[in-house]
Amino acid sequence: MLACLAPLCGHADIDESEYEFKKTVRSAVERKRLASEFRAAQQAEAEMARQEAAREVLRLAAEKAAWDALPYPVRLTQTRCTSCHSEDNYLEQRHNRVGWELVILRMQYLNDAELQDGEGGVIASHLAANYPQTAVEALAEAARQLGVALLPIALCLGWRFARSRRGGKS
Ligand code: HEC
Repeated sequence: MLACLAPLCGHADIDESEYEFKKTVRSAVERKRLASEFRAAQQAEAEMARQEAAREVLRLAAEKAAWDALPYPVRLTQTRCTSCHSEDNYLEQRHNRVGWELVILRMQYLNDAELQDGEGGVIASHLAANYPQTAVEALAEAARQLGVALLPIALCLGWRFARSRRGGKS
């Protein structure tokens, strides 16, 4: 029985402090390795963040350059006419110069759009010139505008005609 246990006792003879020492050395090396791996990962992450920030700066600069390259009337229209609704609201519509002036007056006086003096004209001529109507739309709008413009004259003539007929009878 003792003879059987002898080999086990032999193992137990290994100096425990030596074992502990080896373990500490191993784990110190390991700790160092982990720490340096951690530092490397941190540096890589910081580098990636730096590159991302640099890309963002470039992107913003390109965006600004593209914006600055747009003609003034385009920038003005986008600045003044997209704060309440998207471009789709007006680019789908086609008007002549007078029609746009009227839309813009409505935006100013009914919807409180804020424009500086003269900006309405720039926007109206830009929209009329760059988003042309079809011939039919142009004709229909011109006829409508002419009708509205002639309305006071028509009313006046009608009134005078009615009065003259009444006068003729009496
Ligand atoms: C302060 C807010 C505001 C601003 C700025 C604004 N709009 Fe509008 N717009 C509205 C509202 C609200 C409506 C919907 C009610 C209406 O039709 O009046 C509208 C509707 C429209 C419509 C569709 C209706 C129609 O009858 O034609 C057009 C076109 C339009 N806007 C053009 C413009 C243009 C061009 C500008 C730039 C000068 C502009 N808007 C700026 C508020 C605004």
